[in-house]
Amino acid sequence: MDTIAPDSRLSKPTKTFLSHQHQLLIDGKWVAAASGKTFSVYNPATGAVMAQVAEADKEDVDRAVRAARRAFDEGPWRKMTGSQRGRLMWKLADLIEQHLEEFAEIESIDNGKPLAVARAADVPLTADMFRYMGGWATKITGSTIPWSAPNEFLSYTVREPVGVVGQIIPWNFPLLMAAWKLAPALAAGCTIVLKAAEQTPLSALRLGELIQEAGFPGGVVNILAGYGETAGAALAAHDDVDKVAFTGSTEVGKLIVKAAAGNLKKVSLELGGKSPTVIFGDADIEAAIPGAAGAIFFNHGQCCCAGSRLYAHKNVFDRIVEGVSGEAKKIKVGPGLDPATNMGPLVSEEQFERVTGYIESGIEEGAKIVTGGKKAGGDGGYFVEPTVLTGTKPSMKVVREEIFGPVVCAEPFDDADLERIAKKANDTIYGLAASVWTKDISKAHKMANLIRSGTVWINCHNVFDASLPFGGYKQSGWGREMGGEVLANYSEIKAVTAKL
Ligand code: NAI
Ligand code: MG
Repeated sequence: MDTIAPDSRLSKPTKTFLSHQHQLLIDGKWVAAASGKTFSVYNPATGAVMAQVAEADKEDVDRAVRAARRAFDEGPWRKMTGSQRGRLMWKLADLIEQHLEEFAEIESIDNGKPLAVARAADVPLTADMFRYMGGWATKITGSTIPWSAPNEFLSYTVREPVGVVGQIIPWNFPLLMAAWKLAPALAAGCTIVLKAAEQTPLSALRLGELIQEAGFPGGVVNILAGYGETAGAALAAHDDVDKVAFTGSTEVGKLIVKAAAGNLKKVSLELGGKSPTVIFGDADIEAAIPGAAGAIFFNHGQCCCAGSRLYAHKNVFDRIVEGVSGEAKKIKVGPGLDPATNMGPLVSEEQFERVTGYIESGIEEGAKIVTGGKKAGGDGGYFVEPTVLTGTKPSMKVVREEIFGPVVCAEPFDDADLERIAKKANDTIYGLAASVWTKDISKAHKMANLIRSGTVWINCHNVFDASLPFGGYKQSGWGREMGGEVLANYSEIKAVTAKL
Protein backbone atom coordinates (compact mmCIF):
# COMPACT_ATOMS: atom_id res chain seq x y z
CA MET A 1 0.00 0.00 0.00
CA ASP A 2 1.20 3.53 -0.70
CA THR A 3 2.47 5.55 2.22
CA ILE A 4 1.34 9.16 2.13
CA ALA A 5 3.64 12.15 2.67
CA PRO A 6 3.83 13.20 6.33
CA ASP A 7 1.49 15.93 7.59
CA SER A 8 3.01 19.35 6.94
CA ARG A 9 2.33 20.38 10.55
CA LEU A 10 4.89 17.87 11.85
CA SER A 11 8.32 19.04 12.95
CA LYS A 12 11.43 18.17 11.02
CA PRO A 13 12.68 15.49 13.47
CA THR A 14 9.33 13.67 13.26
CA LYS A 15 9.34 13.81 9.47
CA THR A 16 12.89 12.48 9.47
CA PHE A 17 11.90 9.65 11.79
CA LEU A 18 8.90 8.78 9.62
CA SER A 19 11.14 8.64 6.56
CA HIS A 20 13.34 5.95 8.16
CA GLN A 21 13.00 2.27 7.50
CA HIS A 22 11.27 0.97 10.61
CA GLN A 23 13.00 -2.21 11.68
CA LEU A 24 13.24 -4.43 14.73
CA LEU A 25 15.74 -3.81 17.53
CA ILE A 26 17.41 -7.16 18.21
CA ASP A 27 20.73 -7.59 20.00
CA GLY A 28 21.55 -3.90 19.75
CA LYS A 29 21.03 -3.75 15.98
CA TRP A 30 18.17 -2.66 13.74
CA VAL A 31 17.22 -5.56 11.50
CA ALA A 32 14.52 -6.51 9.02
CA ALA A 33 12.07 -9.25 9.92
CA ALA A 34 13.40 -12.73 9.07
CA SER A 35 10.49 -13.14 6.65
CA GLY A 36 11.22 -9.76 5.07
CA LYS A 37 7.58 -8.83 5.69
CA THR A 38 6.34 -5.40 6.71
CA PHE A 39 2.92 -4.14 7.77
CA SER A 40 1.15 -0.82 7.37
CA VAL A 41 0.68 1.71 10.14
CA TYR A 42 -2.38 3.93 9.77
CA ASN A 43 -3.08 7.48 10.82
CA PRO A 44 -6.44 7.12 12.60
CA ALA A 45 -7.36 10.75 11.86
CA THR A 46 -7.40 10.03 8.12
CA GLY A 47 -7.30 6.27 7.68
CA ALA A 48 -4.23 6.71 5.45
CA VAL A 49 -1.06 4.62 5.69
CA MET A 50 1.79 6.60 7.30
CA ALA A 51 4.55 4.03 7.56
CA GLN A 52 5.62 0.48 6.84
CA VAL A 53 7.12 -1.40 9.75
CA ALA A 54 9.03 -4.69 9.85
CA GLU A 55 6.61 -7.42 10.92
CA ALA A 56 8.09 -9.68 13.57
CA ASP A 57 7.00 -13.29 13.73
CA LYS A 58 8.06 -16.43 15.60
CA GLU A 59 11.57 -16.50 14.11
CA ASP A 60 12.24 -12.89 15.13
CA VAL A 61 10.91 -13.61 18.60
CA ASP A 62 13.36 -16.53 18.79
CA ARG A 63 16.23 -14.30 17.74
CA ALA A 64 15.27 -11.60 20.22
CA VAL A 65 14.86 -14.06 23.09
CA ARG A 66 18.26 -15.57 22.32
CA ALA A 67 19.78 -12.07 22.42
CA ALA A 68 18.04 -11.27 25.70
CA ARG A 69 19.18 -14.60 27.17
CA ARG A 70 22.77 -13.96 26.18
CA ALA A 71 22.61 -10.42 27.56
CA PHE A 72 21.22 -11.77 30.81
CA ASP A 73 23.62 -14.70 31.24
CA GLU A 74 26.84 -13.35 29.80
CA GLY A 75 26.63 -9.68 29.00
CA PRO A 76 27.95 -6.68 30.91
CA TRP A 77 24.41 -5.97 32.16
CA ARG A 78 24.64 -8.72 34.74
CA LYS A 79 27.77 -7.23 36.27
CA MET A 80 26.47 -3.67 36.41
CA THR A 81 25.56 -2.22 39.77
CA GLY A 82 22.12 -0.86 40.55
CA SER A 83 23.68 2.57 40.46
CA GLN A 84 24.96 2.03 36.93
CA ARG A 85 21.57 0.73 35.77
CA GLY A 86 19.85 3.68 37.42
CA ARG A 87 22.17 6.14 35.72
CA LEU A 88 21.40 4.66 32.30
CA MET A 89 17.70 4.99 33.03
CA TRP A 90 18.08 8.64 34.03
CA LYS A 91 20.06 9.29 30.87
CA LEU A 92 17.20 7.74 28.91
CA ALA A 93 14.71 9.95 30.78
CA ASP A 94 16.76 13.03 29.85
CA LEU A 95 16.83 11.97 26.20
CA ILE A 96 13.07 11.41 26.19
CA GLU A 97 12.56 14.92 27.54
CA GLN A 98 14.91 16.35 24.94
CA HIS A 99 12.72 14.73 22.28
CA LEU A 100 9.41 15.59 23.95
CA GLU A 101 7.91 17.35 20.95
CA GLU A 102 8.87 14.59 18.56
CA PHE A 103 7.41 11.88 20.80
CA ALA A 104 4.23 13.91 21.31
CA GLU A 105 3.80 14.21 17.55
CA ILE A 106 4.45 10.52 16.96
CA GLU A 107 1.91 9.57 19.65
CA SER A 108 -0.63 11.96 18.23
CA ILE A 109 -0.47 10.71 14.65
CA ASP A 110 -0.12 7.04 15.57
CA ASN A 111 -2.71 6.77 18.36
CA GLY A 112 -4.89 9.77 17.46
CA LYS A 113 -4.69 11.59 20.77
CA PRO A 114 -4.49 15.40 20.87
CA LEU A 115 -0.93 16.67 20.62
CA ALA A 116 -1.41 18.79 23.75
CA VAL A 117 -2.37 15.71 25.77
CA ALA A 118 0.64 13.72 24.59
CA ARG A 119 2.85 16.73 25.44
CA ALA A 120 1.40 17.22 28.90
CA ALA A 121 0.79 13.60 29.90
CA ASP A 122 2.20 10.72 27.86
CA VAL A 123 5.74 11.97 27.32
CA PRO A 124 6.50 13.59 30.71
CA LEU A 125 4.98 10.61 32.55
CA THR A 126 7.22 8.33 30.49
CA ALA A 127 10.37 10.24 31.46
CA ASP A 128 9.18 10.29 35.07
CA MET A 129 8.67 6.52 35.09
CA PHE A 130 12.27 5.89 34.02
CA ARG A 131 13.55 8.33 36.66
CA TYR A 132 11.40 6.90 39.43
CA MET A 133 12.31 3.31 38.62
CA GLY A 134 15.95 4.29 38.13
CA GLY A 135 15.89 5.25 41.80
CA TRP A 136 14.64 1.79 42.73
CA ALA A 137 17.58 0.11 41.00
CA THR A 138 19.74 0.79 44.08
CA LYS A 139 17.02 -0.10 46.59
CA ILE A 140 16.05 -3.66 45.77
CA THR A 141 16.86 -5.41 48.99
CA GLY A 142 16.06 -8.58 50.87
CA SER A 143 15.73 -8.98 54.62
CA THR A 144 17.22 -10.90 57.49
CA ILE A 145 14.77 -13.36 58.96
CA PRO A 146 14.56 -14.02 62.70
CA TRP A 147 14.77 -17.76 63.13
CA SER A 148 13.21 -20.03 65.73
CA ALA A 149 16.76 -21.20 66.51
CA PRO A 150 18.62 -17.88 66.36
CA ASN A 151 22.10 -19.05 67.27
CA GLU A 152 22.15 -22.12 65.08
CA PHE A 153 21.14 -20.69 61.73
CA LEU A 154 21.36 -17.35 59.97
CA SER A 155 18.89 -16.68 57.17
CA TYR A 156 18.52 -13.81 54.82
CA THR A 157 16.73 -13.17 51.54
CA VAL A 158 17.97 -11.57 48.36
CA ARG A 159 15.95 -10.35 45.40
CA GLU A 160 17.29 -11.39 42.04
CA PRO A 161 16.11 -10.47 38.55
CA VAL A 162 13.59 -12.98 37.21
CA GLY A 163 15.57 -13.26 33.97
CA VAL A 164 14.37 -12.81 30.39
CA VAL A 165 11.08 -10.96 30.32
CA GLY A 166 8.54 -10.86 27.46
CA GLN A 167 6.39 -7.74 27.50
CA ILE A 168 3.29 -7.19 25.38
CA ILE A 169 1.69 -3.75 25.38
CA PRO A 170 -1.44 -2.08 23.99
CA TRP A 171 -2.04 1.00 21.88
CA ASN A 172 -3.90 3.39 24.21
CA PHE A 173 -0.73 4.99 25.69
CA PRO A 174 1.89 3.43 23.43
CA LEU A 175 5.00 5.13 24.81
CA LEU A 176 3.87 5.27 28.43
CA MET A 177 2.90 1.58 28.43
CA ALA A 178 6.37 0.77 27.11
CA ALA A 179 7.81 2.73 30.06
CA TRP A 180 5.50 1.07 32.61
CA LYS A 181 6.87 -2.25 31.41
CA LEU A 182 10.52 -1.53 30.61
CA ALA A 183 11.45 0.69 33.55
CA PRO A 184 10.81 -1.69 36.46
CA ALA A 185 12.26 -4.67 34.57
CA LEU A 186 15.45 -2.69 33.90
CA ALA A 187 15.61 -1.53 37.51
CA ALA A 188 15.37 -5.16 38.61
CA GLY A 189 18.18 -6.19 36.24
CA CYS A 190 16.14 -8.21 33.75
CA THR A 191 16.61 -8.32 30.01
CA ILE A 192 13.62 -7.75 27.80
CA VAL A 193 11.80 -8.52 24.59
CA LEU A 194 9.03 -5.95 24.21
CA LYS A 195 6.33 -6.29 21.58
CA ALA A 196 4.53 -3.05 20.72
CA ALA A 197 0.89 -3.04 19.63
CA GLU A 198 0.43 -3.45 15.88
CA GLN A 199 -1.78 -0.31 15.78
CA THR A 200 0.89 1.94 17.34
CA PRO A 201 4.46 0.65 17.00
CA LEU A 202 6.21 3.93 16.15
CA SER A 203 7.01 5.52 19.52
CA ALA A 204 8.43 2.24 20.89
CA LEU A 205 10.74 2.05 17.88
CA ARG A 206 11.87 5.64 18.42
CA LEU A 207 12.37 4.83 22.09
CA GLY A 208 14.58 1.93 20.98
CA GLU A 209 16.86 4.42 19.22
CA LEU A 210 17.19 6.45 22.41
CA ILE A 211 17.83 3.30 24.44
CA GLN A 212 20.82 2.70 22.19
CA GLU A 213 21.91 6.32 22.46
CA ALA A 214 21.70 6.15 26.26
CA GLY A 215 24.19 3.27 26.15
CA PHE A 216 22.27 0.21 27.31
CA PRO A 217 24.28 -2.88 26.32
CA GLY A 218 23.01 -4.68 23.20
CA GLY A 219 20.37 -7.36 23.83
CA VAL A 220 19.18 -5.88 27.14
CA VAL A 221 16.15 -4.31 25.45
CA ASN A 222 14.86 -5.85 22.23
CA ILE A 223 11.90 -4.18 20.58
CA LEU A 224 9.58 -5.91 18.16
CA ALA A 225 6.60 -4.73 16.17
CA GLY A 226 4.11 -7.31 14.99
CA TYR A 227 0.71 -8.83 15.48
CA GLY A 228 -0.58 -10.41 18.64
CA GLU A 229 -1.67 -13.72 17.18
CA THR A 230 1.81 -14.31 15.72
CA ALA A 231 4.63 -12.42 17.45
CA GLY A 232 2.72 -11.88 20.72
CA ALA A 233 1.62 -15.50 20.98
CA ALA A 234 5.16 -16.75 20.22
CA LEU A 235 6.60 -14.53 22.94
CA ALA A 236 4.02 -15.61 25.53
CA ALA A 237 4.65 -19.28 24.75
CA HIS A 238 8.45 -19.13 24.44
CA ASP A 239 10.23 -21.72 26.57
CA ASP A 240 13.24 -19.51 27.23
CA VAL A 241 11.22 -16.55 28.52
CA ASP A 242 11.11 -16.53 32.32
CA LYS A 243 8.26 -14.09 32.71
CA VAL A 244 5.58 -12.48 30.58
CA ALA A 245 3.98 -9.13 31.40
CA PHE A 246 0.87 -8.20 29.45
CA THR A 247 -1.45 -5.23 29.21
CA GLY A 248 -4.57 -5.50 27.07
CA SER A 249 -7.91 -7.22 26.88
CA THR A 250 -9.07 -9.72 29.47
CA GLU A 251 -9.78 -12.13 26.61
CA VAL A 252 -6.14 -12.11 25.46
CA GLY A 253 -4.98 -12.11 29.10
CA LYS A 254 -6.55 -15.55 29.44
CA LEU A 255 -4.71 -16.72 26.29
CA ILE A 256 -1.44 -15.45 27.79
CA VAL A 257 -2.01 -17.54 30.90
CA LYS A 258 -2.58 -20.65 28.77
CA ALA A 259 0.47 -19.92 26.60
CA ALA A 260 2.61 -19.39 29.70
CA ALA A 261 1.69 -22.80 31.10
CA GLY A 262 4.20 -24.61 28.84
CA ASN A 263 7.23 -23.59 30.89
CA LEU A 264 5.30 -22.13 33.84
CA LYS A 265 6.79 -18.71 33.22
CA LYS A 266 5.69 -16.05 35.69
CA VAL A 267 2.77 -13.94 34.52
CA SER A 268 1.53 -10.45 35.34
CA LEU A 269 -1.56 -9.02 33.69
CA GLU A 270 -3.11 -5.58 33.52
CA LEU A 271 -6.47 -6.12 31.88
CA GLY A 272 -9.82 -4.52 31.25
CA GLY A 273 -12.13 -2.58 33.50
CA LYS A 274 -15.63 -1.25 33.89
CA SER A 275 -14.90 1.30 36.53
CA PRO A 276 -17.67 3.04 38.47
CA THR A 277 -17.85 6.76 39.20
CA VAL A 278 -20.07 7.11 42.27
CA ILE A 279 -21.46 10.58 43.02
CA PHE A 280 -23.26 11.16 46.31
CA GLY A 281 -25.92 13.80 46.93
CA ASP A 282 -23.51 15.79 49.08
CA ALA A 283 -20.74 15.95 46.48
CA ASP A 284 -19.27 19.20 45.20
CA ILE A 285 -21.29 19.14 42.00
CA GLU A 286 -19.15 21.77 40.29
CA ALA A 287 -16.15 19.46 40.68
CA ALA A 288 -18.01 16.18 40.15
CA ILE A 289 -19.39 17.15 36.72
CA PRO A 290 -16.07 17.80 34.96
CA GLY A 291 -14.59 14.98 37.05
CA ALA A 292 -17.12 12.42 35.82
CA ALA A 293 -16.78 13.71 32.25
CA GLY A 294 -12.99 13.51 32.39
CA ALA A 295 -13.23 10.04 33.92
CA ILE A 296 -14.82 8.69 30.74
CA PHE A 297 -13.77 11.09 27.99
CA PHE A 298 -10.03 11.36 28.78
CA ASN A 299 -8.06 9.58 26.04
CA HIS A 300 -11.40 9.04 24.22
CA GLY A 301 -12.44 6.51 26.85
CA GLN A 302 -9.56 4.30 25.76
CA CYS A 303 -8.37 3.85 29.34
CA CYS A 304 -8.53 0.58 31.23
CA CYS A 305 -9.69 2.61 34.26
CA ALA A 306 -12.23 4.79 32.37
CA GLY A 307 -15.21 5.73 34.54
CA SER A 308 -17.67 4.02 32.22
CA ARG A 309 -20.46 3.38 34.76
CA LEU A 310 -21.72 6.57 36.34
CA TYR A 311 -23.89 6.22 39.45
CA ALA A 312 -25.34 9.40 40.93
CA HIS A 313 -27.77 9.91 43.79
CA LYS A 314 -31.26 10.64 42.51
CA ASN A 315 -31.25 14.12 44.09
CA VAL A 316 -28.35 15.19 41.87
CA PHE A 317 -28.72 12.72 38.98
CA ASP A 318 -30.43 15.08 36.52
CA ARG A 319 -27.93 17.86 37.18
CA ILE A 320 -25.02 15.46 36.78
CA VAL A 321 -26.33 14.00 33.52
CA GLU A 322 -27.07 17.44 32.17
CA GLY A 323 -23.64 18.68 33.27
CA VAL A 324 -21.70 15.70 31.87
CA SER A 325 -23.66 15.96 28.61
CA GLY A 326 -22.82 19.67 28.51
CA GLU A 327 -19.13 18.82 28.94
CA ALA A 328 -19.45 16.23 26.15
CA LYS A 329 -20.94 18.80 23.80
CA LYS A 330 -18.10 21.22 24.53
CA ILE A 331 -15.51 18.65 23.44
CA LYS A 332 -14.16 19.47 20.00
CA VAL A 333 -13.60 16.20 18.15
CA GLY A 334 -10.96 16.35 15.42
CA PRO A 335 -7.48 15.35 14.29
CA GLY A 336 -4.94 15.19 17.12
CA LEU A 337 -2.60 17.63 15.38
CA ASP A 338 -5.26 20.36 15.22
CA PRO A 339 -4.64 22.68 18.20
CA ALA A 340 -8.40 23.18 18.63
CA THR A 341 -8.99 19.44 19.14
CA ASN A 342 -9.95 18.12 22.57
CA MET A 343 -10.67 14.56 21.45
CA GLY A 344 -9.08 12.74 18.54
CA PRO A 345 -10.19 9.69 16.59
CA LEU A 346 -10.36 6.20 18.06
CA VAL A 347 -7.20 4.26 17.37
CA SER A 348 -8.40 2.06 14.52
CA GLU A 349 -11.26 1.09 12.30
CA GLU A 350 -11.69 -2.04 14.42
CA GLN A 351 -12.13 0.05 17.57
CA PHE A 352 -14.48 2.38 15.73
CA GLU A 353 -16.65 -0.58 14.73
CA ARG A 354 -16.49 -1.99 18.23
CA VAL A 355 -17.49 1.24 19.97
CA THR A 356 -20.28 2.18 17.56
CA GLY A 357 -21.49 -1.44 17.76
CA TYR A 358 -21.79 -1.08 21.53
CA ILE A 359 -23.76 2.16 21.18
CA GLU A 360 -26.16 0.39 18.80
CA SER A 361 -26.50 -2.56 21.15
CA GLY A 362 -27.31 -0.17 24.00
CA ILE A 363 -30.09 1.43 21.97
CA GLU A 364 -31.45 -1.98 20.93
CA GLU A 365 -31.56 -3.03 24.58
CA GLY A 366 -33.51 0.12 25.51
CA ALA A 367 -30.91 2.70 26.55
CA LYS A 368 -31.51 6.35 25.72
CA ILE A 369 -28.89 8.61 24.14
CA VAL A 370 -28.74 11.92 26.00
CA THR A 371 -25.94 13.23 23.85
CA GLY A 372 -23.57 11.94 21.17
CA GLY A 373 -23.97 8.45 19.76
CA LYS A 374 -22.89 9.19 16.22
CA LYS A 375 -19.81 9.17 14.06
CA ALA A 376 -18.09 12.55 14.23
CA GLY A 377 -15.82 14.42 11.85
CA GLY A 378 -15.87 14.24 8.09
CA ASP A 379 -14.95 11.35 5.82
CA GLY A 380 -12.06 9.12 6.79
CA GLY A 381 -10.83 8.95 10.36
CA TYR A 382 -12.34 6.97 13.20
CA PHE A 383 -14.14 9.72 15.11
CA VAL A 384 -16.99 9.03 17.53
CA GLU A 385 -18.97 11.64 19.47
CA PRO A 386 -18.63 11.59 23.24
CA THR A 387 -21.77 9.78 24.32
CA VAL A 388 -23.95 9.72 27.43
CA LEU A 389 -26.50 6.91 27.83
CA THR A 390 -29.27 6.74 30.43
CA GLY A 391 -32.03 4.20 31.01
CA THR A 392 -29.43 1.42 31.11
CA LYS A 393 -30.01 -1.75 33.14
CA PRO A 394 -27.37 -3.83 34.95
CA SER A 395 -27.94 -6.71 32.52
CA MET A 396 -27.16 -4.72 29.37
CA LYS A 397 -23.99 -5.36 27.40
CA VAL A 398 -23.07 -1.65 27.55
CA VAL A 399 -23.09 -1.87 31.35
CA ARG A 400 -21.34 -5.23 31.64
CA GLU A 401 -18.65 -5.14 28.96
CA GLU A 402 -15.64 -2.88 28.49
CA ILE A 403 -16.43 -0.53 25.59
CA PHE A 404 -13.06 1.27 25.53
CA GLY A 405 -14.56 4.35 23.91
CA PRO A 406 -16.13 7.67 24.97
CA VAL A 407 -19.40 6.12 26.13
CA VAL A 408 -20.76 6.37 29.67
CA CYS A 409 -23.85 4.67 31.14
CA ALA A 410 -25.48 6.82 33.82
CA GLU A 411 -27.84 5.34 36.42
CA PRO A 412 -29.40 6.98 39.46
CA PHE A 413 -29.38 5.38 42.91
CA ASP A 414 -31.87 6.07 45.69
CA ASP A 415 -30.20 4.69 48.76
CA ALA A 416 -28.26 5.76 51.84
CA ASP A 417 -26.85 2.33 52.62
CA LEU A 418 -23.18 2.30 51.62
CA GLU A 419 -22.99 -1.49 51.44
CA ARG A 420 -25.80 -1.59 48.88
CA ILE A 421 -24.27 1.26 46.89
CA ALA A 422 -20.90 -0.49 46.92
CA LYS A 423 -22.61 -3.67 45.77
CA LYS A 424 -23.78 -1.84 42.65
CA ALA A 425 -20.30 -0.44 42.09
CA ASN A 426 -18.86 -3.95 42.53
CA ASP A 427 -21.38 -5.59 40.19
CA THR A 428 -18.82 -6.36 37.50
CA ILE A 429 -16.30 -9.06 36.63
CA TYR A 430 -13.66 -6.32 36.73
CA GLY A 431 -11.96 -4.57 39.63
CA LEU A 432 -9.48 -2.06 38.31
CA ALA A 433 -10.55 1.34 39.59
CA ALA A 434 -13.39 3.46 40.97
CA SER A 435 -14.00 7.02 42.00
CA VAL A 436 -16.17 8.30 44.84
CA TRP A 437 -17.43 11.87 44.99
CA THR A 438 -18.62 13.27 48.34
CA LYS A 439 -17.74 16.02 50.82
CA ASP A 440 -18.15 13.59 53.71
CA ILE A 441 -14.69 12.17 54.41
CA SER A 442 -15.96 9.26 56.48
CA LYS A 443 -18.32 8.19 53.73
CA ALA A 444 -15.50 8.51 51.19
CA HIS A 445 -13.14 6.26 53.12
CA LYS A 446 -15.87 3.77 54.00
CA MET A 447 -16.65 3.48 50.29
CA ALA A 448 -12.93 3.13 49.51
CA ASN A 449 -12.95 0.20 51.89
CA LEU A 450 -16.05 -1.43 50.40
CA ILE A 451 -15.09 -1.16 46.73
CA ARG A 452 -13.26 -4.19 45.34
CA SER A 453 -10.74 -2.63 43.00
CA GLY A 454 -7.00 -1.96 42.83
CA THR A 455 -7.46 1.82 42.82
CA VAL A 456 -10.05 4.04 44.50
CA TRP A 457 -9.99 7.76 43.81
CA ILE A 458 -11.76 10.20 46.13
CA ASN A 459 -13.02 13.39 44.47
CA CYS A 460 -10.78 12.75 41.46
CA HIS A 461 -10.35 10.15 38.70
CA ASN A 462 -7.53 9.06 36.37
CA VAL A 463 -4.85 10.43 38.68
CA PHE A 464 -1.55 8.59 38.34
CA ASP A 465 1.90 8.70 39.79
CA ALA A 466 4.91 6.47 39.21
CA SER A 467 4.97 5.81 42.96
CA LEU A 468 1.42 4.41 43.16
CA PRO A 469 0.74 0.72 42.57
CA PHE A 470 -1.84 0.17 39.86
CA GLY A 471 -3.59 -3.04 38.88
CA GLY A 472 -6.66 -5.11 39.18
CA TYR A 473 -8.78 -7.23 41.45
CA LYS A 474 -10.90 -9.99 39.89
CA GLN A 475 -10.62 -10.26 36.09
CA SER A 476 -8.74 -6.97 35.81
CA GLY A 477 -5.49 -8.79 36.24
CA TRP A 478 -2.64 -10.22 38.27
CA GLY A 479 0.04 -8.18 40.01
CA ARG A 480 0.64 -4.46 40.11
CA GLU A 481 2.36 -1.94 37.87
CA MET A 482 4.37 0.97 39.28
CA GLY A 483 5.30 1.83 42.85
CA GLY A 484 7.66 -0.45 44.73
CA GLU A 485 5.11 -3.23 44.25
CA VAL A 486 5.86 -3.74 40.55
CA LEU A 487 9.36 -4.97 41.40
CA ALA A 488 7.79 -8.19 42.64
CA ASN A 489 6.78 -8.84 39.02
CA TYR A 490 10.39 -8.79 37.94
CA SER A 491 12.26 -10.44 40.77
CA GLU A 492 12.63 -13.80 42.43
CA ILE A 493 13.28 -14.07 46.14
CA LYS A 494 16.03 -16.36 47.29
CA ALA A 495 16.30 -17.50 50.91
CA VAL A 496 19.86 -18.24 52.02
CA THR A 497 20.42 -20.18 55.22
CA ALA A 498 23.76 -20.85 56.91
CA LYS A 499 24.34 -23.28 59.76
CA LEU A 500 26.41 -21.45 62.33
P1 NAI B 1 -5.61 -6.99 22.61
O1 NAI B 1 -5.68 -7.50 24.00
O2 NAI B 1 -5.90 -7.93 21.50
O3 NAI B 1 -4.15 -6.36 22.31
C1 NAI B 1 -3.24 -5.93 23.27
C2 NAI B 1 -1.84 -6.46 22.93
O4 NAI B 1 -1.88 -7.87 22.94
C3 NAI B 1 -1.34 -6.07 21.54
O5 NAI B 1 0.06 -5.88 21.59
C4 NAI B 1 -1.65 -7.31 20.72
O6 NAI B 1 -0.81 -7.45 19.59
C5 NAI B 1 -1.39 -8.41 21.72
N1 NAI B 1 -2.08 -9.68 21.46
C6 NAI B 1 -3.28 -9.87 20.85
N2 NAI B 1 -3.56 -11.19 20.79
C7 NAI B 1 -2.52 -11.84 21.36
C8 NAI B 1 -2.21 -13.22 21.60
N3 NAI B 1 -3.05 -14.18 21.22
N4 NAI B 1 -1.08 -13.53 22.24
C9 NAI B 1 -0.21 -12.55 22.64
N5 NAI B 1 -0.44 -11.25 22.42
C10 NAI B 1 -1.57 -10.89 21.80
O7 NAI B 1 -6.56 -5.73 22.52
P2 NAI B 1 -7.22 -5.09 21.21
O8 NAI B 1 -7.70 -6.17 20.30
O9 NAI B 1 -6.28 -4.10 20.64
O10 NAI B 1 -8.44 -4.32 21.85
C11 NAI B 1 -9.62 -5.02 22.16
C12 NAI B 1 -10.18 -4.58 23.47
O11 NAI B 1 -9.24 -4.89 24.49
C13 NAI B 1 -10.43 -3.10 23.63
O12 NAI B 1 -11.66 -2.73 23.10
C14 NAI B 1 -10.40 -2.97 25.12
O13 NAI B 1 -11.63 -3.33 25.66
C15 NAI B 1 -9.36 -3.97 25.55
N6 NAI B 1 -8.05 -3.34 25.79
C16 NAI B 1 -7.70 -3.06 27.07
C17 NAI B 1 -6.53 -2.41 27.34
C18 NAI B 1 -6.10 -2.09 28.73
O14 NAI B 1 -5.33 -1.17 28.93
N7 NAI B 1 -6.53 -2.82 29.71
C19 NAI B 1 -5.64 -1.95 26.27
C20 NAI B 1 -6.07 -2.34 24.96
C21 NAI B 1 -7.25 -2.99 24.75
MG1 MG C 1 -7.16 -8.09 19.84
